[in-house]
Amino acid sequence: MVFDPHSFRKNIAGIKTQVPTISGKKMAYINFDNAASTPPLISTIKETQAFMQWYSGVHRGTGYKSIIASKAYDFCHQIVGKFVKANLENNTVIMVKNTTEAINKLSYRLPLNKNDIVISSVMEHHSNDLPWRQKAHVEYIGLDEAGNLCMEDLEKKLRRLYPRVKLLAICGASNVTGQLNKIHDFAYLAHKYDTPIFVDAAQLIPHNPIDMKDDHDPYHIDYLAFSGHKIYSPYGSGCLIGPKKTFMANEPEYKGGGTVKMVLPHKIWWADLPEKEEAGSPNVIGAFALAKSLQLMESIGMEKVAAYEKFLTDYALAKLKNIPGITIFGTSPRVGVISFNLAGLHHALVGAALCYEAGIGVRTGCFCAQPYVRKLLLLDKKPVLASPSLNDNWSKMPGMVRISLGAYNTTKEIDILVKHLHRIALNRRHYLKEYYYSTAKNEFLPRNNNELNKWIDRTVMANFE
Ligand SMILES: Cc1ncc(COP(=O)(O)O)c(C=O)c1O
Repeated sequence: MVFDPHSFRKNIAGIKTQVPTISGKKMAYINFDNAASTPPLISTIKETQAFMQWYSGVHRGTGYKSIIASKAYDFCHQIVGKFVKANLENNTVIMVKNTTEAINKLSYRLPLNKNDIVISSVMEHHSNDLPWRQKAHVEYIGLDEAGNLCMEDLEKKLRRLYPRVKLLAICGASNVTGQLNKIHDFAYLAHKYDTPIFVDAAQLIPHNPIDMKDDHDPYHIDYLAFSGHKIYSPYGSGCLIGPKKTFMANEPEYKGGGTVKMVLPHKIWWADLPEKEEAGSPNVIGAFALAKSLQLMESIGMEKVAAYEKFLTDYALAKLKNIPGITIFGTSPRVGVISFNLAGLHHALVGAALCYEAGIGVRTGCFCAQPYVRKLLLLDKKPVLASPSLNDNWSKMPGMVRISLGAYNTTKEIDILVKHLHRIALNRRHYLKEYYYSTAKNEFLPRNNNELNKWIDRTVMANFE
C-alpha cells in the first residue's frame, strides 16, 4: 500500500484551525514550519490520555501504578532504540528533553579536553556546534562546489589531526537547506581514523528511515539524538543513543535522585544505564507519547513517508523555481526543508505577508544556524555584519524564508503558497508600502493590523478562561 497523506492528515491535531487574514476572510491554517515543531498526532494524544490512568512516579514505587508506569517507561526506551535500529545489547537509550540537551549531555560525558578535537561542519544547527566549543577545539568541515559537506576536507582533517580527533559531529539533514548528509559514508571515513560519529538526527527523524547499524559494521552510527517534537510528539521528550561503555565510565554530569544504587556519606555506587544518566523524576508522559508516535510512524513505514515527502519536495521546488526573483538555497538530495529569498524583499516581511494574507506559517531568519546561513548568503567574509546588536533589530538581520514540510502537507497547500509568493514577488512596492517594521515588536506588520491583533489576544486569552 502506498502512503495516503489524506488519512495521515486526519490524524493531525489542529489541521482544520481557521485563522483570519487581512482581507477579513478566514482561511484554514497552512503549517509549513514543521522543521521547528510538528503538530501532535491525534492518536498519540488519545493514547497518552488513556495512559494517564497509570501515571505515577517510576522506579521507586511499590504500588501497581508505579510498577506499570515503570515497565511502560522502560519499554519506551526499547521502542525508541528499535525505531533507529540501534543494537540495544551494547547501546543505551537515554531519555532527555530534546536534541539540544542530548548533545550537551554527550559533550559532558565524553572525556574531552581542550587539546582534543571535535570535527563538526559549517552546516550545523547551533545545538550541534556550541556545546563542542566549550569542551574541545572544533574544526569545521567545509562545503564542496556542489554545496555538500566535503568528504576530502574531512579526510584531510582526520589524517592531519590524528589521533587528537575524538568525535565527528554532523547533522543527518540540515535544518536550513534540508540537505541530506551521507551519514554512513562519513561514519566509514571517521571509523577509518578511529573516530566515532555523532549524528544530530533532529531533521532526519520525521522524514527518512534511520538505521544506526550493528556496532561491528564500519558504516554504523555511534551516537544519535533527536527530539519528540520534530516527529509529531511535542511532549518535551527526546533521546540520546550511544554505547553503554561511554556512559558506564565516569560520573553523570547531573547527579541526584534515580542515578544511584547506593550512597554512603563518602561513597556512591552509580545506577545501571540508563537510570544513571536520567537524573531526577523522568518525563514519563513525554517518553510514552514519543514511543506512541514512533510506533504509528513505523506502522505506516518510514520508506513510504520518505517517498511521499520526496514527491512533495520535488513538486514544491519545481513550482518555487518559477517565482520571479526567487533564490533557492542548497542542493538535493534533501528532505522537505527549503529556504529561499525574494529579490528586494526582507525575509521577515515575506513571512509576515504569508501569515497575514494567506494564513501560512513559515519561519524566517537564520534558523539557529547563523554560520551556515551567512555562508549561503555570501556574508561570511563581511565582518561589518557580524554584530550581535543586529539581533535586536530584525529588519537589519540577514536571513531567509524557510518552508518545511510534514507528511500531512499536500500539493494543494503548496499551490496556495506559490500563488501568494507570486503575488508578493510581483507587487514588491505594494508590500514595501503596506508593511512596516515595528521596533517595539521587532517584526514586520501590516499597516492595518488592529483587528488581527485583537483576534490574536482574544485567542490567547480564550485558552486561559
Ligand atoms: C538540525 C537540528 N539540530 C538540533 C536542533 C535542536 O533541537 P531542539 O530544539 O529540539 O533541542 C534543531 C532544532 O530545530 C535542528 O533542526
